[in-house]
Amino acid sequence: VRKDSPLIIGAGDEENFIASDVPAILKYTRNYYLLEENEIATIKSDRVEFCDMHKLPIKKEVQVSNLDMDAAEKGGYEHFMLKEIHEQPNAVKTTITPRIVNGMPDLSECGLTLEALKNYRKLFIVACGTAMHAGMVGKYVIEKLARTEVTVDIASEFRYRDPIITPEDLVIVVSQSGETAALHLAHDKGAKVLSVVNVKGSSIARESDMVLYTHAGPEISVASTKAFSVQMSVMYLLAFEMAYAKGHIDENECKRLTAKLAEIPDIIEKTMECEKKCKYVSSKLITAQSLLYIGRGLDYALSMEGSLKLKEISYIHSESYAAGELKHGTISLVEDGMPVIGVATQTELLEKTVSNIVEVKSRGAFTIAVCKEGTEFSEGVIDEAIEVPAMEDVLMPMLTVIPLQLIAYYTTVLKGLNVDKPRNLAKSVTVE
Ligand code: G6P
Repeated sequence: VRKDSPLIIGAGDEENFIASDVPAILKYTRNYYLLEENEIATIKSDRVEFCDMHKLPIKKEVQVSNLDMDAAEKGGYEHFMLKEIHEQPNAVKTTITPRIVNGMPDLSECGLTLEALKNYRKLFIVACGTAMHAGMVGKYVIEKLARTEVTVDIASEFRYRDPIITPEDLVIVVSQSGETAALHLAHDKGAKVLSVVNVKGSSIARESDMVLYTHAGPEISVASTKAFSVQMSVMYLLAFEMAYAKGHIDENECKRLTAKLAEIPDIIEKTMECEKKCKYVSSKLITAQSLLYIGRGLDYALSMEGSLKLKEISYIHSESYAAGELKHGTISLVEDGMPVIGVATQTELLEKTVSNIVEVKSRGAFTIAVCKEGTEFSEGVIDEAIEVPAMEDVLMPMLTVIPLQLIAYYTTVLKGLNVDKPRNLAKSVTVE
């Protein structure tokens, strides 16, 4: 019986399967049936029958998965996480290419026409974990370019507060799995729901009024990486198109930004050159008890993601702080040798963030900067700088995330821990 959590029935030859997701059965068959909530399947080796709660028979169409088998295997990498980090250029390309038409973003496939985008009053982005951090990037970019208010909520908080939502608003649910329990409730609040989801036919996709699928392919490692990049890429398309629809940028500027986004997959590939350096920096982190990630603006959103990635798999306590907020309490934690990672890619905020790095350095911190190629720091401020290619500030998160993911990965590997399956965590959190 399917109840609350996803369930599929794999239809093989003289053998049938019960699984929670398609990659689990791919080795045996591509054919499967999707169970809806409360539906019942009776499985024999040679047949499968379906009925509803009242035992009334149901006829179901067999679905054929086109998932790439290799995509569900490690393909030569030591861990799924490393494979998925390296799949990001392709995942982003596959997600954005069909949505760029004549140089302009085009999200009309799901009903997000220019007219609709022009008229939304306010956006609510609702998500959990890494997807919520992609939502934070979305908020910065949409507010900056489209001058439209965006609230980002953790789904489990959104559910129990009483947000002021009108029918002119749009609720955007962001989720890799499309099964995260707390997200279902976003639908009860009265506005139309757009979901940005990676898994076809997932519960959230089916419940939404509009769906924009991200095309990351199956993400197996519990720590989400490529899903984050594709979610951000959709946020950019949305921001650019909405900014144009609302008249805050003209067609030329919209095309220029879109072209920059289209270059991103190649530049992510180039960013991977920092891998060796990240491995080296990670070797300095493995004995740390605790560390801090700091940044401002978009860099703050990325600090949050970097910190989550590190703590969830390496079990090293870490916190992310808006750099300017450090001195309001947290800086008292800094002592000799404590690693502090300063994410400093935003030109306008660089000086401010650097002054916060100086503050922790003078208290003995071991300072690591993630910055644009060629960023210069005064002597003695930064112990290790990890440079990423320099791009338009607004797009930097697509690159900045790479070293943050790699640091989490290598620190965990060097500690000898289970990278893909960290303790106490699950890939899909289907209970609240
Ligand atoms: C779990 C996973 C995280 C993920 C979060 C949201 O906590 O461990 O990696 O970011 O759920 O999942 P979703 O599938 O909704 O994106």
